[in-house]
Amino acid sequence: MLARTYCGDFRKTDLKKKVRLNGWVETNRDHGGVIFLDVRDRSGVVQVVAHPDTPEMHVLAHSMRQQNVIEVVGEVIPRYADAINPKLATGEIEVKIISMTLLNRADTPPFAIEDDCNTGEQHRLEYRYLDLRRPCMQKNLMLRHKVTHAARNYLDSQSFLDVETPILNKSTPEGARDYLVPSRIYPGSFYALPQSPQLFKQLLMVAGVDRYYQIARCFRDEDLRADRQPEFTQVDLEMSFVTQDDVMAVAEGLIRSMFEAGMNTPIEEAFPHITYAEAMDRYGLDRPDVRFGLEHIDVTDLMKEVDFKVFSDPANNGGLVKVIRVPNGSSQLSRKKIDNYTKFVSIYGARGLAYIKVNDKDDIPGGLQSPIVKNLSEDVLKALLERCEAENGDLLFFGADTKEVVNNALGYLRVELGKDLELFDVKSNQFVWVVDFPMFEWDAENKRPQALHHPFTAPYPEDLDKLETAPLEMRSQAYDLVWNGTEIGGGSIRIHDTEVQARVLKALNISDEEANDKFGFLLNALKYGAPPHGGLAFGLDRVLSLMVGAESIRDVIAFPKTQRAADPMSDSPSEVGDAQWKELGLRKRPTIKVTE
Ligand code: AMO
Ligand code: AMP
Repeated sequence: MLARTYCGDFRKTDLKKKVRLNGWVETNRDHGGVIFLDVRDRSGVVQVVAHPDTPEMHVLAHSMRQQNVIEVVGEVIPRYADAINPKLATGEIEVKIISMTLLNRADTPPFAIEDDCNTGEQHRLEYRYLDLRRPCMQKNLMLRHKVTHAARNYLDSQSFLDVETPILNKSTPEGARDYLVPSRIYPGSFYALPQSPQLFKQLLMVAGVDRYYQIARCFRDEDLRADRQPEFTQVDLEMSFVTQDDVMAVAEGLIRSMFEAGMNTPIEEAFPHITYAEAMDRYGLDRPDVRFGLEHIDVTDLMKEVDFKVFSDPANNGGLVKVIRVPNGSSQLSRKKIDNYTKFVSIYGARGLAYIKVNDKDDIPGGLQSPIVKNLSEDVLKALLERCEAENGDLLFFGADTKEVVNNALGYLRVELGKDLELFDVKSNQFVWVVDFPMFEWDAENKRPQALHHPFTAPYPEDLDKLETAPLEMRSQAYDLVWNGTEIGGGSIRIHDTEVQARVLKALNISDEEANDKFGFLLNALKYGAPPHGGLAFGLDRVLSLMVGAESIRDVIAFPKTQRAADPMSDSPSEVGDAQWKELGLRKRPTIKVTE
């Protein structure tokens, strides 16, 4: 039996060879007696031809329907000069059929199996196996394989051991809601699916594994967005006897090797570092897109004395007044666009979006067109223009509110303006490490500090004495890697000292009892010679979707869930029979109202 050749692999060098190929019929064209079939497999497409001089094959070819599964044995022949297709890798040749077998018939597919099929995603997910047959999706699957392969190779070269950790777990405190699995053997008890392998990888360090990695499935029951799935994959790692810089160096090497494998080009530049405080100050977000300017300008100090409560209230009460200067914005941004941006920032809680159009910076206030100029003195306006280094034609946007509202609103506004005004090359790639995250943030609802990363993250030793007095001022040894404004990974140095861990849990208002109940096994392990350790996890799906420029991470996951966390193909989640309820020791509430 002839060995099989993948359809996309035929070249001119194969001319005159007798070959075998398998695949799906993509098109069937009858050109005045000669029948052309495009046959596709995962590698690409090749044209096969049936001539009337082989009547049996000609009849069979004629009857071929789209997506029929066939085997062809044939001879590779050159195409006529005017039939050469330079866009196709196999475009110089075709395969003349010697014999052909119909291996399986296909019903008419519910949508066209081609890249630009405009079927809704729900429908595509219902027939995911056909959706995945489309060339662009096959490419994504192959890319995923290539990139994870590169990750494994790199980590192997750095002496990491691939260790699997359990899926049926006790809850992991990553901050999202757990998916729970009821236990049959212990009625009323539940396993939690891992939000990440965090605790187990730390235990592996205590166990002396020294360098661990895993391409790990994680489960988080959180509100879904385009870059979030309930079930997603991390490239997860942990190392012993390391500093932050050691972990970041390995992680940088890892992402470089993944990028090179996926994008066929190396990342030239070194990754810059920016502190969390600086990122918030300059960009308003802890995952800054540094491909363009429009940096925030803090003008809070100039607004303390003004007779305009919208600005003076936040300026005097711990809030912020910030400006984004859009160079030449006056002519580019119409009144309607400004109104749209005002609506946009309201999503983030902003109560307005004051602006000034700088027509003539030397004519204050006459040369300034704005709804707020009347509220500001000439001195303040002058100082403001100087601080912003404003030029004629510029447009200044203002945000005034609490720190959170201003940073968020102007942070996202900056990104929106960058896109709308095409301030960066969409094909460019910029990575930045965000470091020195605060240890805690204030949880307004429960009126207590909560861990910004997770409760096992180590503070800087020099900040430790603030733990009981000023916890919100403490910085942690945590770091995130941001690619074009998306957080693709994060990690930290962990606490390896039981006493420090106990103090941090106390600061988080977690009682000894609760701590013991939730992760006593980790606290216990720290007592038995835990080495200093730290690690990081990359979100593999996010990395891949940035590589292919996908709108959503669903496009790089073989079988993803919808935004409503469902699988329309297998119809999960689904109800289970009474026997299973009984077996699991569970009882249905009389009426469960499902809210849409
Ligand atoms: P973290 O929670 O920051 O850290 O997660 C690491 C990375 O995982 C990705 N990610 C997601 N991707 C898709 N869908 C989701 N729902 C989702 N949630 C997170 C992000 C993120 O940067 N155990 C720690 C890591 C550590 O400290 O070593 C952790 O899980 O890209
Ligand atoms: P007002 O005095 O409420 O008419 O507002 C004057 C201008 O200030 C309008 O352009 C509003 O959009 C803007 N504005 C109101 N509140 C804020 C705020 N918190 N931050 C920025 N601009 C604001």
